[in-house]
Amino acid sequence: MNKEQLALFGGVPVRTSVWIWKSSFGDEEANAVHTIVKSGKLSVFRGGTAVREFEEKFAQFSGAKYGVATTSGTTALHSAVTALGITEGDEVLVPPLTFVSTASVVLQEKAIPVFVDVEPTSYCMSPQDLESKITKRTKAIIPVHIYGHPADMYKICDIARRYNLAVISDSAQAHGAKIKNQPIGAFGNISCYSFFQTKNMTTGEGGMAITNDDALARKLRLKREHGSIPNQHTWYAYEELGYNYAMTELQAAVGLVQLKRLEGFNERRRENASFYQAQLSKTGLVLPRINEEFYHVFHNFPILLPEGKSHLRSEFVAAIRAEGVPVDICYPVPLYETNLFRKAGISGRCPNAESITSRIFTLFTDPALETPDLENICAAVIKVSQFYLGG
Ligand SMILES: Cc1ncc(COP(=O)(O)O)c(C=O)c1O
Repeated sequence: MNKEQLALFGGVPVRTSVWIWKSSFGDEEANAVHTIVKSGKLSVFRGGTAVREFEEKFAQFSGAKYGVATTSGTTALHSAVTALGITEGDEVLVPPLTFVSTASVVLQEKAIPVFVDVEPTSYCMSPQDLESKITKRTKAIIPVHIYGHPADMYKICDIARRYNLAVISDSAQAHGAKIKNQPIGAFGNISCYSFFQTKNMTTGEGGMAITNDDALARKLRLKREHGSIPNQHTWYAYEELGYNYAMTELQAAVGLVQLKRLEGFNERRRENASFYQAQLSKTGLVLPRINEEFYHVFHNFPILLPEGKSHLRSEFVAAIRAEGVPVDICYPVPLYETNLFRKAGISGRCPNAESITSRIFTLFTDPALETPDLENICAAVIKVSQFYLGG
């Protein structure tokens, strides 16, 4: 492979037609929205029932008794942090290989995110490093099921029990994921999901916190609804500080349809991941390792450049994009290296996360991808790897 053959340097790109993102929404989602619009009941407060039904069904599917639907995954996480009473000066253990909100919701309460390294193969929080970072001020742990791979919740929850810590799992990328056949939402105190457009199921924007604990379910509702649980007897009875994080009926109606389709979506994502796994096995790139105990829902497909090749990453990714296919870098640095955390005086030392973030790039696994899309993506990655890695 010569440099000139790469589209980045003037060669013919693998894909010449424009890349078009397709949504997973179809007629059923459109009809569900239409029904709500016609009913005029856009909110629970106007007699809508879709949000409550969605909460019940999603929570049950995900391994918990109660669901509290919110405006986003971030507000679900913030509701969880505040429902657990996490406050100024408390330490909360989080991984640095994640989306910003896992840790920014901790900062929002003036609590301190303490960064725990990730495991070198699952990319999820390392139980061993976790235990070494517990102090007298530690109140909670937020493991993340990153890229759809469940964190090791048996070990993490065992440590939490021994030190009397709360566990909020960030399940924003892992709807339907399981550990030894148990849904991930059955582990820990609260599990938080996002329904943003790119997620394994979507309501456009939206989120949900689920729990098996009666008292926490009530607290989560208080936080979502201005510190009150309104009904005709308690209107204007504000018990504590809360927020307006309520999901609309329109979102919930779509959520109910997407929930029915979720297992099919996840199977499709897993098939897409298997396709990448097979096609890219000879590139010299580091592909995800599969552990059968974990039902991985492949929110996306993380790939690492080989060790010692991190300096190639930005040009490597630019070269793939120039071939006409999408690729992402989730995530380019550990969170503690971003200005947000630096300015807050938060630092970290997580060698595995540092190595992974310096070498990672991520492929999309959307169920709407078609075989030619997957073939184009693989052809682009193989072409670029042949030049940069000789693979
Ligand atoms: C791991 C993780 N946590 C939290 C969130 C926040 O969810 P949302 O975008 O719905 O606020 C996301 C979504 O991007 C995420 O991927």
